[in-house]
Amino acid sequence: MIKRIVVFLMAALLLPGLCIGAKMGQYKYDDFSSPQKCGACHKKIFQEWNDSMMSKSYTHSWDQVEYFELALPHAQKLEKVSGVKAGCIACHGPLAFLSGDIPPKPADKNTRANEGVSCEICHNITGTNQKEPFNFSWEITPGKTKNGPRKDAKSPFHKSRFSNFHKSAEFCATCHDEQSPYGAWVKATYREWKNGPYAKEGVVCQDCHMHKAPGKSTSMGKNRPDIAHHVFQGSHSDSKLKGAIDLALYANKKALSTGNNLKLRVVLFNGKAGHYIPSGSSEERMLWLEVWAIDANGKSYHIPVKSKGFKGEDYTIANSKTYAYQAIGEIKEIKGFKGLKRDGDVPDGARIFRKPFFDPKGRMTICQWYTKDNTVVDYRIGPRETKIENYVWELPSNLPKGKLTINANLFYAQVPSSVGKFFKLPESEYRPILVNTAKMVIEVK
Ligand code: HEC
Ligand code: HEC
Ligand code: HEC
Ligand code: HEC
Ligand code: HEC
Repeated sequence: MIKRIVVFLMAALLLPGLCIGAKMGQYKYDDFSSPQKCGACHKKIFQEWNDSMMSKSYTHSWDQVEYFELALPHAQKLEKVSGVKAGCIACHGPLAFLSGDIPPKPADKNTRANEGVSCEICHNITGTNQKEPFNFSWEITPGKTKNGPRKDAKSPFHKSRFSNFHKSAEFCATCHDEQSPYGAWVKATYREWKNGPYAKEGVVCQDCHMHKAPGKSTSMGKNRPDIAHHVFQGSHSDSKLKGAIDLALYANKKALSTGNNLKLRVVLFNGKAGHYIPSGSSEERMLWLEVWAIDANGKSYHIPVKSKGFKGEDYTIANSKTYAYQAIGEIKEIKGFKGLKRDGDVPDGARIFRKPFFDPKGRMTICQWYTKDNTVVDYRIGPRETKIENYVWELPSNLPKGKLTINANLFYAQVPSSVGKFFKLPESEYRPILVNTAKMVIEVK
């Protein structure tokens, strides 16, 4: 007996990442109700979920492209990453994973993979066997019992079970933290939160992404002061993103003459997110600061950031001559592929707040499953962190006298525009979104 336990423990240690939770093909689609069925009673929750990325986690076009054009062919070609054929689906189309429908049919075939992270996934989850969960390490039992935050819920349709797990950040961590086949932490929203100020204060993911308000979860339910809203807003919601970072802009002088140095300082503060901004899919998220001067004749000048000289800083300053993402050409077998512009259309010299990922060949990549190292530099903005950027600009001698307007614009994009254009994604999936802006006027004498 003891011997068997030891052998089991040794096997578990030798095979990290394998079978840490949910198992592929354990159930069938029919074991799970559709979200519409739950929505018949929980109308508002259904509406919120349906509007959120949770319901689109499989069907959303960039997810479809990344899985079918990159991850799946790569998994079929390279043994080391073969696990992602099923692994991507365990988080993005869990019903298909649990039903053994791997690879699932593309979204236009309308299978139940399309339900994405559905009601039945989250409310049949019973726990995890990890202390700090990651890589879909949830345990799930479909059936009559729904697990939720209430001790006194009574429903004519299902049994209810109180689950403290659903009120914890560890619940979200099961899908929001991810380790690549090379052992790199390629998603670490939970770990960022855990090491930051909010965990210490007991503020969990649900407090900011499933906020509470008085109401009922269904017309036949109890009136409660704190119904959990299923909005799950993140970077795909302009309203959540706008103002997520405070900006302040300062100049050394209010008036100066041409030939002199204008010194600017921009102060950025992440006072709203419980983790870094950007978080989650950091391999492809872009957050950057553009500082522009507009002279009295309306001519614009982009002012480059003053370098600080830290290790890996090159990756954080836009450079239109730099190419990256060569793994795309490797996977798609494009001859002579030199890569795509690393920084898309971000103007040269702009500061980019990012954490670059590198593939086993040392090239910067957006393929998180093909990431060996992402610890070279992390220049994102941490929870309650302030970053200060400096600018020095010698006013050109031909600058017209009068008002000089300075604009500091902070932008966010889900994917570098070069990647978005290459894969012909809808523009809405890579366009720059203005997170915040600050402005001042200087007098040129
Ligand atoms: C016939 C109506 C009806 C249907 C259909 C229904 N529910 Fe419920 N559900 C209720 C009622 C009533 C409650 C109790 C509400 C309360 O007490 O505030 C409830 C409570 C819950 C709770 C809270 C349980 C707890 O212990 O915290 C969850 C979670 C839940 N439902 C999930 C689901 C899911 C998932 C589905 C679809 C598989 C579903 N419900 C379908 C009526 C329904
Ligand atoms: C990503 C996981 C996730 C998905 C998807 C999800 N829920 Fe929930 N749900 C939760 C969590 C977590 C809570 C508890 C939040 C808390 O109390 O902090 C919850 C709470 C609830 C409650 C109890 C509300 C209350 O405050 O009494 C109901 C009812 C419910 N969910 C129904 C649904 C239905 C119906 C769907 C699909 C339309 C759905 N959920 C989709 C995670 C999820
Ligand atoms: C079963 C897996 C799973 C669980 C559990 C889960 N998520 Fe997610 N979540 C996802 C996936 C997959 C996406 C990505 C959707 C996409 O863009 O394709 C996502 C996206 C999000 C987003 C980004 C939305 C946007 O607009 O950019 C937020 C915010 C979020 N989840 C919050 C939570 C919170 C809070 C919890 C815990 C209460 C949670 N999630 C639990 C799988 C999960
Ligand atoms: C104090 C509030 C707060 C807490 C706590 C919090 N978040 Fe967020 N989250 C935000 C805000 C604000 C944004 C929008 C800024 C952004 O997209 O980075 C966000 C964005 C996100 C995104 C999108 C990130 C991106 O850049 O694509 C995900 C995913 C997410 N949160 C998941 C979580 C998870 C999981 C937890 C718990 C481990 C959590 N959040 C805790 C406030 C919070
Ligand atoms: C452990 C769970 C997990 C695994 C495994 C996983 N993902 Fe994700 N994925 C997520 C979550 C959570 C997000 C949302 C993060 C955020 O909002 O920044 C996400 C975001 C994405 C996005 C960005 C979506 C958008 O709307 O911008 C793409 C594309 C994606 N995943 C594709 C994949 C592919 C392809 C694989 C397999 C190689 C994969 N994912 C594996 C959980 C996972």
